[in-house]
This record gives sequence, C-alpha cells and structure tokens, in this order.
Amino acid sequence: MSDTDGLRYIKIPLNNGSDEIPALGFGTLIPDPIATKDATKAALEVGFRQFDCAERYRNEDRVGEAMRAVFQEGKVKRKDVFVGTKLWNNNHRPERVRPAFEASLRRLQLDYVDLYSIHTPFAFKPGDEQDPRDRNGNVIYDDGATLTNTWKAMESLVDEGRCKAIGLSNVNLGQLKEVFDVARIKPASVQVESHPYLPEWELLDYCKRNGIVMQAFAALGHGIEPKLLDERVITVIAKRVKKTPAQVLLAWALQRGTAPLTTATHARYIEENFDISTLPDDAIKEINEGISTRVRLNPVVNTGIPGFIPKAS
Ligand SMILES: NC(=O)c1ccc[n+]([C@@H]2O[C@H](COP(=O)([O-])OP(=O)(O)OC[C@H]3O[C@@H](n4cnc5c(N)ncnc54)[C@H](OP(=O)(O)O)[C@@H]3O)[C@@H](O)[C@H]2O)c1
Repeated sequence: MSDTDGLRYIKIPLNNGSDEIPALGFGTLIPDPIATKDATKAALEVGFRQFDCAERYRNEDRVGEAMRAVFQEGKVKRKDVFVGTKLWNNNHRPERVRPAFEASLRRLQLDYVDLYSIHTPFAFKPGDEQDPRDRNGNVIYDDGATLTNTWKAMESLVDEGRCKAIGLSNVNLGQLKEVFDVARIKPASVQVESHPYLPEWELLDYCKRNGIVMQAFAALGHGIEPKLLDERVITVIAKRVKKTPAQVLLAWALQRGTAPLTTATHARYIEENFDISTLPDDAIKEINEGISTRVRLNPVVNTGIPGFIPKAS
C-alpha cells in the first residue's frame, strides 16, 4: 500500500456537467452539539472536503458555526468544500420544500449547497414535528405527497441556483428508477447504507451506468454489531498492508467507485480516516469474494424512521 497516492483526493464528476464531488466524505450525524462543532472543524482542518448534513440531525447550526470559523480563519475556502444537506420527511409537500431548504441554508450559514437530497422516500404528516405519531405511537404518514412531486420542487431549487445538484437517499432501485425516468433534472447522487456486509452491487451498477454518484453511509458499520471493523477478512488485510481496518474499508469503498461517508468524534479517528491509500487488487478481490455476511444495520429504508438518530429529548 502506497502512502503517497491520491486516493483520499479522488473526485467523481456529477451529472450536472460542471461539478464534481470529493469522494471521501465526512458525515455530521453526531448527537452532541459541541462534539459536532469540534469534529466538523477537525475534519476540515485534516483535509476532508465533502460534508454530509441533514435537517434531521438537528445540528446544522453547529456544522455551520464550525465551517464559518474555518473559512474566516482563511484556512479553507468555501468554494473548495462540497456541502450536502437533506430534506426531512415532514417537509415532502412541494410547498414545504423551499422553506425547509432556506432554513437549512440559514443554519449552515451558507448561500448555496452543493447537493440537496430527499432524506427518505417516506412522507410524514406535514408540519413542524419531525417525528409525528398517533396516540398509539405509530408514525403518521402523508398520503398527499408523492416522491415525484417532491422531486419537482427540488428541481426548482436547482433552476434558481440555490443548490447545484439534487439527490435521493434511502431509496431502492425501483424507487430510484421511478424518479430517474420522469426527472427533468436527474438525481446526481443516491445516499444509501453500503459496506462489505451490504455492498448493493446492483444499485451501484445502475448508478454508474446512469452517471449517479452512490454515497455509501455507515462505511465502517456504524460501530454496531456485527462489527465490521472486527471482520476477519478486513483485519487480516489491514495487518498485511499496515493500515487499520477503518482505512481498509474506506479504501475499498473508494476503489469500487462509491463516495463513502464516515463519522468520527475522536480526533485520532478523523485523522486516521483521511490517511488512506490504495489497496492492492488481491485485497479488493478478497473483500468482494471472501465476505458472505449480509446485514442491513439501519432500518430507515423500511419505514422512514431513522435507525441511528436518538429520539428528541
Ligand atoms: N441518509 C441516511 O439516512 C443516513 C443514515 C446514517 C448515516 N448517514 C450519513 O453517513 C454518515 C456516516 O454514517 P455512520 O455514522 O454510520 O458512519 P461510520 O463511520 O460507519 O460509523 C461511525 C462510528 O464509527 C466510529 N469510528 C469512526 N472512525 C473510526 C476508526 N477509524 N476506528 C474505529 N472506529 C471509528 C465512530 O466513533 P467515534 O464517533 O467515537 O469517534 C462512530 O462510532 C453520517 O454521519 C451521516 O452523515 C446517512
């Protein structure tokens, strides 16, 4: 494994014809506000140039404070950072899309975002409650919104130049095709859970054939069981190439053409996750062919209820 290659700087062209996304991304799904700010700042300073945010993470303001501080110090320029954020389920009605988008921009202290995505294909009851429930504790869905109508409202934001590209998240191949086929502005990215226990090869193949970037979240397995970082195929390769399991997982994700999203609050993990380099072909083959476990860690695709986000206090 070379330490001097440019794997960490790989960019994938977007289908809007003018932009590209730095493939190695830093996710901001961090429950603690102070940790969010510290981690975002550290990630920018270490070299991450793609940041994934969401109104549902309830911390865009802290991400915004961290970015503003780094931009003001002159260490990094806004134009060199790719920022994406996401529309939550209670804002799927077309008339709610713009206000939700504007609120995200305000919290992030930005004039534009590089990518705005629909967080899940599930529409919840429109209103300010992110997690609307009936008296039995069941989520209240919204029959009055369709994914394609929400998409049209997303397209208007691109028309007005407020976001450079739009995307989907937590969709399956069928839902992606449904939007892709009718979209005037095609989805630039699809953000889904993906790692060696959930490689999503068919979706990745469709994305590559159609110029869509596949952003892979939980790239390190989100730290939950079964622990991907303890997977024997990964730990053996890590030892052989003198890298950590996390670095092997991120290199694999980049080398197969996805844009992995990882999150860390510990400074040493943030540094480690940027210090990656290319794996030899035999290691890639071992990961592709030697791991048979198949697990989805986040059930959000089934219900729209986020799996990794703690309930509001
Ligand atoms: N679209 C969606 O519905 C959706 C869903 C989930 C996530 N996402 C996005 O994807 C991002 C990443 O997801 P994720 O949080 O599941 O990522 P992950 O990187 O798979 O898991 C994060 C966990 O791994 C630990 N970790 C990070 N680097 C490590 C290292 N080098 N060695 C050992 N442990 C390490 C972190 O620890 P510490 O925090 O203790 O440092 C944290 O507990 C999120 O922040 C979010 O932006 C999107």
